[in-house]
Amino acid sequence: TYVIAEPCMDVKDTACVQECPVDCIYEGDRMLYIHPVECIDCGACEPACPVEAIFYADDVPSEWGQFTAINAEYFEPA
Ligand code: SF4
Ligand code: F3S
Repeated sequence: TYVIAEPCMDVKDTACVQECPVDCIYEGDRMLYIHPVECIDCGACEPACPVEAIFYADDVPSEWGQFTAINAEYFEPA
């Protein structure tokens, strides 16, 4: 899955949403979240984000590592 990290917070550009072929990027209060099951790993959203908030899960920078869980828990609260 792809993951949205901290740079999206309070930015919410939403350019990523237009690129997603399966509409699996959902808007929350302060940021957007990618549904980890619905995402087909196409990568189309990643270059669309002007603040580079989107990463393939394995490539999320370590300081934002918790965002993989944060995206998943938005859909299925722990
Ligand atoms: Fe949507 Fe593709 Fe981005 Fe996954 S990688 S959120 S399917 S655009
Ligand atoms: Fe956020 Fe970037 Fe999408 S700022 S809404 S991840 S285009």
